[in-house]
Amino acid sequence: MEDKSIVDTAVDIETRDMIVDDMEDVLSIERASFPTPWSEGMFLEEMKHPFCHDLVGLVEGQIVGYISFAIVYDEIHLRNLAVHKDWKRRSIASKLLSGMINISSGRGASYGVLEVRRSNEAALGLYKKFGFVVKGTRPFYYTDTGEAALIMWADF
Ligand SMILES: CC(C)(COP(=O)(O)OP(=O)(O)OC[C@H]1O[C@@H](n2cnc3c(N)ncnc32)[C@H](O)[C@@H]1OP(=O)(O)O)[C@@H](O)C(=O)NCCC(=O)NCCS
Repeated sequence: MEDKSIVDTAVDIETRDMIVDDMEDVLSIERASFPTPWSEGMFLEEMKHPFCHDLVGLVEGQIVGYISFAIVYDEIHLRNLAVHKDWKRRSIASKLLSGMINISSGRGASYGVLEVRRSNEAALGLYKKFGFVVKGTRPFYYTDTGEAALIMWADF
């Protein structure tokens, strides 16, 4: 795929609910994004859970990213977010996060919580842009690397 970092970064991104037929594309992005990726079973369980929401982002019909979150009363818990490597820095994650906030606000949620690897500069930059601030740490949270998680919180 061409290097999109040198062309206009504006893209038309459509979002919709994740469906079972999306699994192949979603798992491909998931496996390329995380050292301990979610399994197909985890996504399928997530999609069935009444508190959980899963959106995919598409550009010209191609899945370029996804977000999974739970709404529990007034709290949004961001559970998963990833963008295809060829589409990073094109506001895909921003669009998905905005979608999460819109849906959640419509259901009465007023604040968001997430965990992120301390070393994940891209995600930290993204979350700070959306008003998340670090509220604490969970040492050794990620069992694959032993890395600490930063707990981030945002008031919507
Ligand atoms: C983190 C991730 C989801 C960001 O997706 P993205 O679509 O590239 O993000 P956006 O284009 O919407 O970026 C929005 C802002 O986030 C920040 N950001 C994104 N990538 C960044 C990077 N590599 N370094 C620093 N800041 C970054 C910037 O503030 C950016 O705004 P700008 O482009 O105007 O400077 C993506 O890099 C990814 O899939 N990473 C692997 C999976 C992952 O870490 N998920 C998060 C788990 S907690």
